[in-house]
Amino acid sequence: MVVSGSQQALDIVTRVLLDPGDAAWMEEPCYPLMRSLLIGSGCRAIPVPVDEEGLDVMAGMRLAPDARAAFVTPSHHYALGVTMSASRRFQLLEWSRQASSWIVEDDYDSEYRFDTMPIPSLQGLDPCDRVLYIGTFSKVLRPSLRLGYIVIPADLVDRFVAVRFSMDIFPSYLFQEALTDFMHDGHFARHIRRMRALYKSRRTALVECLRAEFGDFLQIHGSEAGMHLTVTLPPSFKAGALSDVAIATRAAQDKLWLWPLSPCYTNGKPREGFILGFGNTPEDQMPNAVRRLRQLLSA
Ligand SMILES: Cc1ncc(COP(=O)(O)O)c(C=O)c1O
Repeated sequence: MVVSGSQQALDIVTRVLLDPGDAAWMEEPCYPLMRSLLIGSGCRAIPVPVDEEGLDVMAGMRLAPDARAAFVTPSHHYALGVTMSASRRFQLLEWSRQASSWIVEDDYDSEYRFDTMPIPSLQGLDPCDRVLYIGTFSKVLRPSLRLGYIVIPADLVDRFVAVRFSMDIFPSYLFQEALTDFMHDGHFARHIRRMRALYKSRRTALVECLRAEFGDFLQIHGSEAGMHLTVTLPPSFKAGALSDVAIATRAAQDKLWLWPLSPCYTNGKPREGFILGFGNTPEDQMPNAVRRLRQLLSA
């Protein structure tokens, strides 16, 4: 089903699969608009910790074994950039089968994987039709296109169509037709190949600048895929009591866009840090941007 971006996909999935009061796992930390959506729909959003293997499925089973759904970003976790391990993928699929629950796979930027081969989606590994797969053209083309899609298990299609048609029916045909031609003529595949090489060199430049400027002070996460990486501040960091949110606000005054990490957490003890997009920063601008970040942190 073609939808207006993954945000609308998440909204439709929530409307079809969940009733107010239902428990749903979400990642901790998570994409903040995912959390708002679950809360807005009256569901019980259960934050399940993410570690270096991705969502901690056992923790989810302890917290809410009977949740109706789990919302995950397994290719490149938002916000920490972790790729979910194979064993966690199988654990999650096994839980959804046993609990008759759904997995919502938000694959918002899987087209760009720099150092390893693409990894199979959860949806591709699932023999039981328990996974709804969400993709988007926002990262690979542009967010203002508002084009995304959901791969829906066959027996749910009618319910999705009913909800979809009660919303805005479909995104502009003009954009869909143009994108179809773009794909058929081979431009899309070429674009991805070209941008993968470009983003890889921007990613490498950013990592090198961060290492040169900060050494081990900042921990770098999730740089192997996507269009952002995340840096975390050491727990001892105080910076005159400025939070990551306050630092990001100051940086924005200089047109340095840092997304603070702590608002991605729901529970008491957020990690502080920054989500750094490198997609639109040319390599020769990286050193200045990173130097500015260091100045802000040591101010
Ligand atoms: C994890 C995640 N899910 C969903 C979205 C929404 O994307 P879209 O523009 O396709 O609605 C984003 C946007 O950045 C995202 O990071």
